[in-house]
Amino acid sequence: MAAPDHGSGSRRFGVAPGALPLVGHAWELLRDPLAFAARLPSYGDLVEVRLGPARAYVPCHPELLSRVLRDGRTFDKGGPFYDRARGVLGGGVGTCRDAEHRRQRRLLQPAFSAAHLERYSAVMAAQFTALSEGWRDGQVIDAYPVLYEAAMRTVLGSLFATRAGTAAVETVHRSVETILDHLFRRMFLPGPLQRVPTAANRRFDAELDALNRSVAAVIADYRRAGEDHGDLLSTMLATRRQDDGGLSDTEIAEQVLTMLVAGGDPVASTLSWALWLLAGHPAAAERIRRESETVLGGQPVRGTDAERLGYTGRVVTETLRLYPPGWLFTRVTSAPVELAGRTLPAGATVLFMAPVLHRQAALYPEPRRFDPDRWLPERAAGLPHGAFAAFGGGARQCLGNAYATIEAVLALSIILGRWKVRCAAGTDARPAAMATNLRPRRLLLRLTRVPAAEPPTPSPPGRTT
Ligand code: HEM
Repeated sequence: MAAPDHGSGSRRFGVAPGALPLVGHAWELLRDPLAFAARLPSYGDLVEVRLGPARAYVPCHPELLSRVLRDGRTFDKGGPFYDRARGVLGGGVGTCRDAEHRRQRRLLQPAFSAAHLERYSAVMAAQFTALSEGWRDGQVIDAYPVLYEAAMRTVLGSLFATRAGTAAVETVHRSVETILDHLFRRMFLPGPLQRVPTAANRRFDAELDALNRSVAAVIADYRRAGEDHGDLLSTMLATRRQDDGGLSDTEIAEQVLTMLVAGGDPVASTLSWALWLLAGHPAAAERIRRESETVLGGQPVRGTDAERLGYTGRVVTETLRLYPPGWLFTRVTSAPVELAGRTLPAGATVLFMAPVLHRQAALYPEPRRFDPDRWLPERAAGLPHGAFAAFGGGARQCLGNAYATIEAVLALSIILGRWKVRCAAGTDARPAAMATNLRPRRLLLRLTRVPAAEPPTPSPPGRTT
């Protein structure tokens, strides 16, 4: 049988030069992922790179990436990275194979309905309001850790609405920290070494156990109470009432871990990069402040406010273009397939790297420039499908994309409505490439309080700056 053709037409295949003995391009990739990504398209539309001794293929053309992301059966989640992530996180919706994915996604999708998002946005607003009200004028904050804590508490509050702060949920929180710490190491550690009973490995196994026991305790508690709290856990438990079999307790524990790992880090990274960009672009920060005053001014924040914070939304999208936290994901071909005129064998690794698309001058004029208004509908209309891939695409597109966007928009509006931010000495904004995200190495921000606004005048619906 002929291999299916995926855009072989006029697309060019190329090989990235400069692979080092033993490590290939891995060192360059980890040292400066954005510079590496920006170079790749000059070698072709599909580019072969080396990760250690193994070959991998990077789609650098939006059409090719779209095809890879949309054909989850041929380009399945797998390979050493996902196999190891599965060893840590289990086979939840983010790590499972294509054959299992449709069922899990269908069961989880209702937890991200508009009505649920509205409830989660109350948690988001409460977390980021409390955070920004706790700061003092002139204070210097280490941004990533505090934003991470607020993002993590937001996911915990969305998962376990009425049990947030209880001992079981605090154990879940603490365990996820340790698990995340180890995830990156485990992803790169040769398989046999992961089972050596070092102190770190033992601690990791103990935390995974503690997390599973705590989630089981919260599930038992929810069952006894038999209530729908309108949160993520209630929606997962409600799947059990469906005829075709819902999520088992073990599967629910895996989804909880998936949401916590997928939902904290990337939001904190996005907010850190956004604040860093805004510290260097005070006029954009001032536009956000004015928009915040007009739209939110003194009123309780609602999820639907995010739609009316149009400029802030464009800042979030532009931040995700320049610094997509999900910078590297893998797929493995389940059968031979033709891509850009090459036949990739079954088992070939394909790398999905959003920064490769996001920094191409052919797609984004002056690609290094921070220009939120490039996302005005009339200017963004001509972008080809697949050109913006911060949330992935196809059936595996980020399940939390609307959640994350609302959270980032509300958080920026709340923070910049109250504070002016400037970078303080000691900031090192070079990107640190982690397993689950790309974040600034150290972002220290000096805060200056914005003088209190005049009493608000209600704005007409749909108004943006
Ligand atoms: C700005 C923040 C975020 C970014 C940039 C982001 C990015 C991504 C990307 C690129 C993927 C696809 C990975 C792949 O194709 O291999 C993904 C998947 C996923 N994300 Fe997000 N994410 C964010 C926030 C969130 C949040 C807040 C949640 C949950 C509350 C979440 C839950 C998930 C889940 C469950 C998946 C797996 C979906 C599936 O395979 O069906 N994400 N995310």
